[in-house]
Amino acid sequence: MILVTGGAGFIGANFVLDWLGNAAEPVLNLDKLTYAGNPANLAALKGDARHTFVRGDIGDQALVERLLAEHRPRAVVNFAAESHVDRSIHGPGDFVQTNVLGTFRLLEAVRGYWQGLPEAERSAFRFLHVSTDEVYGSLGADDPAFSETTPYAPNSPYSASKAGSDHMVRAWHHTYGLPTLTTNCSNNYGPFQFPEKLIPLMVLNATQGKPLPVYGDGANVRDWLYVGDHCSAIREVLARGRVGEVYNVGGNAERKNIDVVRTMCAILDEAHPAGKPHDRLITYVKDRPGHDRRYAIDASKIERELGWRPSVRFEDGLARTVRWYLDHADWVQGILSGEYRKWIETNYGSRGSSPSTASL
Ligand code: NAD
Ligand code: DAU
Repeated sequence: MILVTGGAGFIGANFVLDWLGNAAEPVLNLDKLTYAGNPANLAALKGDARHTFVRGDIGDQALVERLLAEHRPRAVVNFAAESHVDRSIHGPGDFVQTNVLGTFRLLEAVRGYWQGLPEAERSAFRFLHVSTDEVYGSLGADDPAFSETTPYAPNSPYSASKAGSDHMVRAWHHTYGLPTLTTNCSNNYGPFQFPEKLIPLMVLNATQGKPLPVYGDGANVRDWLYVGDHCSAIREVLARGRVGEVYNVGGNAERKNIDVVRTMCAILDEAHPAGKPHDRLITYVKDRPGHDRRYAIDASKIERELGWRPSVRFEDGLARTVRWYLDHADWVQGILSGEYRKWIETNYGSRGSSPSTASL
């Protein structure tokens, strides 16, 4: 079995659903259920004995040690993080707490477990750390895309905290021999993304006739990857990646923010004609402080070594994603009404640190 952390969040939940759809190997899912962790993302697994959910913090070393000893996973895939740049600007503390200190505690728990494994299990064990392209900083319009050897130059509290976690993962491999793998991925989009991020926020606002806030001049560029393609990349790296290596993952889909928003408006004009034309809602707003201008990923290493490449064309994935949000009004409403927070309080109590196990 494998231990997945942060598996109730956007990418983690997609990964767990994808994993259990592709393999019979069970998953132990450890998630703190912060505002971004949503049990509704895992509703399809209700009653599935292959999925065990534990509410808890990666920074709770004793808890992680107990879970490792009890469940004996052959791999850990670490998604757990504070992930939103704007939140990191308003309050960097949680980012240091989870992304830096939490990853440290997790690594220490995993190191102790791994060192005690019999030789065959020790050498087969993997710790896969899911990271971001933001650690490489910002590109100029004509710069080559980020490769695995691009120097780290994080610009936001979020990316600085992720860079810190990446450096520890690297050091735990070099110093202790922990069999690590790191992936640095570009912007994801798809089902279950919390509507604080650009694409789901725009769908929700547009369908409610609210302004579509575009930061600055709207010409910042992101390299978009459909979340299912990120999941398949992680599966490949976990299965066949070289120990100690870093793999960049990207979508070959650089787009200016304003172009993304305009494309979404056109999709919505077809799919939700009541509010058309949706682009009348576009509103330029004050820029994000320290806003990185451009990200682009050179994903040639993962393609060369593991044969992975993205399979979903951006405009197709975007149309599919817009459709998903329109078709899942209950999921959206659960978030907007705070219903899923109430569910967490009812099922787990209000203390974020009290772990409990539940079949979701
Ligand atoms: P998310 O914010 O949607 O989900 C994060 C999950 O982690 C939530 O379920 C949350 O409850 C959980 N969590 C937070 N702190 C925790 C803690 N201390 N202990 C246990 N669980 C905790 O994030 P996401 O967009 O799904 O991102 C997942 C990972 O992928 C992150 O590490 C992020 O840095 C990385 N990443 C994200 C993107 C993207 O575009 N979203 C791109 C590249 C890399
Ligand atoms: O590059 C990978 C990263 O992508 C991940 O590591 C992060 O976890 C993830 O949140 C994402 O970071 P971004 O800051 O790029 O994503 P976000 O959706 O917040 O913003 C995308 C772009 O859109 C960015 O240039 C800011 C802009 N934006 C965002 C919002 C929320 C707007 O113009 N308006 C908005 O309302």
